[in-house]
Amino acid sequence: MTVSGPGAEETDGHGRAAPEGAPGDARTTVTVIIPTFNEAGNVEELLTRLAAALPAHLDCEALFVDDSTDDTPAAIERAALTCPFPVNVIHREVATGGLSGAVVEGLKSAASEWIVVMDADLQHPPSLMPELVETGRRARADLVVASRYAGGGSHAGLSGRYRVAVSRTSTLVTKGLFPSALRGISDPMSGFFAIRRSTVHAHADILKPLGYKILLELAIRCRPRTVAEVPFSFQERYAGESKSTVREGLRFLAHLVSLRTATPVARMVVFGLIGLTGFLPNLCALAALTALGLHYLPAEIVANQFGVLWNFLFIDLLLFRDRRGHRHWADRLGRFALLANADLVLRIPLIALLVDGMGVAVLPATALALLTTFVLRFVATELLVYLPLPGRPRGMAASFAREREDGAKGERGEAEEREKEGTP
Ligand code: GDD
Ligand code: MN
Repeated sequence: MTVSGPGAEETDGHGRAAPEGAPGDARTTVTVIIPTFNEAGNVEELLTRLAAALPAHLDCEALFVDDSTDDTPAAIERAALTCPFPVNVIHREVATGGLSGAVVEGLKSAASEWIVVMDADLQHPPSLMPELVETGRRARADLVVASRYAGGGSHAGLSGRYRVAVSRTSTLVTKGLFPSALRGISDPMSGFFAIRRSTVHAHADILKPLGYKILLELAIRCRPRTVAEVPFSFQERYAGESKSTVREGLRFLAHLVSLRTATPVARMVVFGLIGLTGFLPNLCALAALTALGLHYLPAEIVANQFGVLWNFLFIDLLLFRDRRGHRHWADRLGRFALLANADLVLRIPLIALLVDGMGVAVLPATALALLTTFVLRFVATELLVYLPLPGRPRGMAASFAREREDGAKGERGEAEEREKEGTP
């Protein structure tokens, strides 16, 4: 076990701390949340092994959040009959938010002091469940992560070198993007962890679950103060197949952008970066159109639409993903294109001046004009939209204070409905 965070100093030299409460007050309650999507072959074995691992002082209940289209609900019902602890099921007709959406639904309805989240397929050893909670109690941690990357852990059950490489790389990138929120968490992609209900419930309304990485969502938006880790070795699946698809990979990217752009300033930076990448399709289309013999001025206008479309796709799918429900896509694209073409009014005469008046070639002239209007737009935005009013606090401190406030409130987005890829 490793512990980090402000509460960690309460532990002794071995990372242990005195248990909470009076000596006699040793009972702890835990809800084990198990998201299931077609796991009929796993639930009985899972409950059997959980029951076998349960120490007497732990009051446990299982809560399945089920989006299955097979007979998983019936399998849970059967297994519950012989299970020594209570088993509850939330069956969702619409799998909003996918795996993370299911877990958040479970988190919101849990009433116990501790919550453990684990997969149904036995890749997470049930025997470790009590240790996660015990570690949290001893270390007075808010979050205990079962980690494949802490000393002694392993990802033996992660099939194939490709998946191991993807997992390693995405872990590194993610830790680089959120160095402070993920300090002390060596495996932010783990789906096996224990968290205090109070930590989740204090922030429940700013959660925007999307895809598979629920721990990432909780670590970044709930900011647990003290974090501990327990190494574990990721097992082979017991029955059935993984539900993860390529689409999950894309969802993960969208999730990262959503977490990274929770504040207005960060959103503006990403907006600018996406705008810059739009230069590429614009200039490529311009080169192709002029090579086909089109005069460069109409070519500019057509080529600009390629950049606009590119920017719209990224901004719509990544940056404003959670606000897409407000208008029909054609309406959004129309408005976006109108705004994005507005600076052509400035750019076209500028390009004509460079090309016809000064003899610059079409492509460099366009690149220069794109850059100029980009910078002008930024300066104009800053001066006209974000200039502080007289008498109001100025500068970085004020901006950060506002940003923190905005970030903490978050914006509630419409939940994305997950279209299921059929079971592989
Ligand atoms: N309710 C619900 N809804 N459950 C789902 C859904 C869904 O849309 N999709 C998947 N699940 C359930 C599965 O039934 C299983 O119990 C658990 O979520 C994990 O799904 P798997 O398909 O087995 O995921 P994995 O093994 O590829 O990924 C696991 O390991 C990764 C680490 O490599 C997950 O724990 C990931 O979160 C983790 O990052
Ligand atoms: Mn799995």
